[in-house]
Amino acid sequence: MELIPEKLPQHIAIIMDGNGRWAKKRGLPRKAGHKAGADALQTVTEGAMELGIKHLTVYAFSTENWKRSDEEVEGIMDLLRKYLKENIKTAKARNVKVNIIGEKSRLAEDIQQQIAKLEEITKDKTGLQLHIALNYGGRDELVRAMRKMAQAVKEGTLQVEDIQEDMVQQYLDTKDVPDPELLIRTSGEERISNFLLWQLAYSEFSFSPKLWPDYTVNDLKEAIYAYQNRDRRFGGRNSQ
Ligand code: IPE
Ligand code: IPE
Ligand code: MG
Repeated sequence: MELIPEKLPQHIAIIMDGNGRWAKKRGLPRKAGHKAGADALQTVTEGAMELGIKHLTVYAFSTENWKRSDEEVEGIMDLLRKYLKENIKTAKARNVKVNIIGEKSRLAEDIQQQIAKLEEITKDKTGLQLHIALNYGGRDELVRAMRKMAQAVKEGTLQVEDIQEDMVQQYLDTKDVPDPELLIRTSGEERISNFLLWQLAYSEFSFSPKLWPDYTVNDLKEAIYAYQNRDRRFGGRNSQ
């Protein structure tokens, strides 16, 4: 399996799904599945960087995930604290720039502080850009963007005629990040679940039956390989 370097996607998005089922299969609490999922994220992040991917956006917690039990949400927030702490500690040795997307204000104060710290200490890194979606929803992102635009129109700093596609992009959490060429979802589910609704307009989708904690760098390579052999048309005519 040889990847074509010139056809490497610049941006890969991943819906990391299946942690709960992974734990259930082993008779473990759901939190153990989320822990294994966090470990898989570290491995896949390293792998993506080695492959030369520029942007990796991962769905870690959706605006709908608050509906889960307090115990599960607390467990995930606990693991998030550990993940941030660990990455703050190892940031120096790694060339990863971390950026959080989503509505951060609903997260606990101490988590927001850790996020700000990790973003600050990695801001000049030139390797992989890792965008972690936390309390993220595609619709919520669009509503926040619309509010900002409406406010700018009201204040007279934005003209209605100037609202164009590339300008709307600038109001999104993924400002200045190219759209993902490839979206991966694990666990056999085949839906978007409110992820990157605007940005996935023309992305290629790769669905893996594997549960997220079992997903490997080799699976990522296979997904990229399959992507490289697809014919992207963007509504135009077939290239063959
Ligand atoms: C994905 O795994 C992680 C989060 C949504 C936080 P799930 O927890 O959704 O795992 P399943 O889908 O129940 O197996
Ligand atoms: C999507 O997975 C969100 C994350 C992976 C963080 P869910 O497990 O929440 O999605 P649904 O409920 O199966 O659509
Ligand atoms: Mg799920």
